[in-house]
Amino acid sequence: MSEKKKAVKVNAVKGMNDMLPADAGLWELVENTVQSVVKSYGYQQMRTPIVEDTGLFVRGLGEVTDIVEKEMYTFIDSLNGDSLTLRPEGTAGAVRAVIEHNLTYDSPKRLWYYGPMFRHERPQRGRYRQFYQFGLEAVGFTGPDIDAELILLCRRLWDDLGLQDVELHLNSIGDASERAEHRAALIAYFEKHQDQLDEDAKRRLYSNPLRILDTKNPHMQKLVDGAPKLLDYLKEESRAHFEGVRAILDKNAVPYIINPRLVRGMDYYNRTVFEWVTTKLGSQGTICGGGRYDPLIEMCGGKPTPACGFAMGVERIIELLKEEGADFSQAQCDVYLVHQGAEAQSEAMVLGERLRDAGLDVVLHCAGANGMGNFKAQMKRADASGAAYALILGEDEIAKGVAAVKNLRGEQGEQQQAEVALEEVVEYVVDAIISDDAHEHLHLHP
Ligand code: HAM
Repeated sequence: MSEKKKAVKVNAVKGMNDMLPADAGLWELVENTVQSVVKSYGYQQMRTPIVEDTGLFVRGLGEVTDIVEKEMYTFIDSLNGDSLTLRPEGTAGAVRAVIEHNLTYDSPKRLWYYGPMFRHERPQRGRYRQFYQFGLEAVGFTGPDIDAELILLCRRLWDDLGLQDVELHLNSIGDASERAEHRAALIAYFEKHQDQLDEDAKRRLYSNPLRILDTKNPHMQKLVDGAPKLLDYLKEESRAHFEGVRAILDKNAVPYIINPRLVRGMDYYNRTVFEWVTTKLGSQGTICGGGRYDPLIEMCGGKPTPACGFAMGVERIIELLKEEGADFSQAQCDVYLVHQGAEAQSEAMVLGERLRDAGLDVVLHCAGANGMGNFKAQMKRADASGAAYALILGEDEIAKGVAAVKNLRGEQGEQQQAEVALEEVVEYVVDAIISDDAHEHLHLHP
């Protein structure tokens, strides 16, 4: 006799979330809006694998960065000993693919991607170990026009989503030689204040002092605020580039704050960097970040190719939408089919197919754990589905060759019910839905 195995309940991995139907409307709203906005600027989709060679991220993002030092999910492929990493962001993989497939051989490219990223961070509101990013990479453009266009695209996106409380923070971190001069000044400054540095900052003082400016430690904010500013070290060309970006933003009435502390978390950036920040999400208020990364493609083995891009965190955008009162609970269908008796059930199946042929979304009541359910129980389901209409097939209706059509959206107490011949019921419901105020809930496909 086989022994029954003890049941063990398994939960999701910490910091990795399920997206449940209650939020599906909001996710779809964000996904559809982003896709339509990026298309309106000529961006084309690409998809890269979730797993890449670890070296790609170490070289691309920089060895002395939070992501590479502490946050990567890295594992050894047991078959061949390769070190692989779950992608912590999308730029490195996009650049790898651009080089591998020689995508910019004939012209620059505007690219976008969407998918899960993985960082082993301490989970909290707005900070997860698996999170979704929409990313845009404009590859082969020298700017500053493309830098500004990316920012204009973001503004359009926030407008289309109805997001209000987002501010643009802007900075230029110059090029390598300007950063080298600034670096020397930074080291001198932090050496003078060694006693105020935390462990991370002490370790980075000589390896990557710019990263100290990116600290999340509140006790170091004052020290960091007084540090030499990179903007003061920019030479003619970088200065002109930054002025160029600002001029386009000014002309298009995009407000921004120049934030000299904004250095971003990866080493691949140069010149323009920006973040869109909200005060409504507590400490994880950056919903989008990016900038120019001219050195990266060459660093990854490609021909020198300028580039600029950004990525936005979808969970944070959804949380902000909720914070600002968005409600996108979705109707499951246009029509819910209620039936009683074997003949009615078989007729309902046929009717369901005919309604779908006409472009309607239809849920047909099927047996649940407690059986089929009486009319009352089925009507409760119909109401809960958010459908505009319930079609009812019982023994009486079948005998008469009709369906009862019930408008579920009428005022309480006056929800009309009509009897319509089975052969005419599809047309009747389509017409009723089109002429109804139920328009907003219409799923009818064109
Ligand atoms: P990032 O600033 O690291 O940039 O991430 C972009 C956005 O992803 C953040 O602003 C935030 O909204 C979201 N995000 C980051 N980490 C988490 C997390 N642990 N949980 C939830 N959301 C998160 C990049 O990833 C660059 N690749 C952007 C870029 C593209 N730069 C040039 N091209």
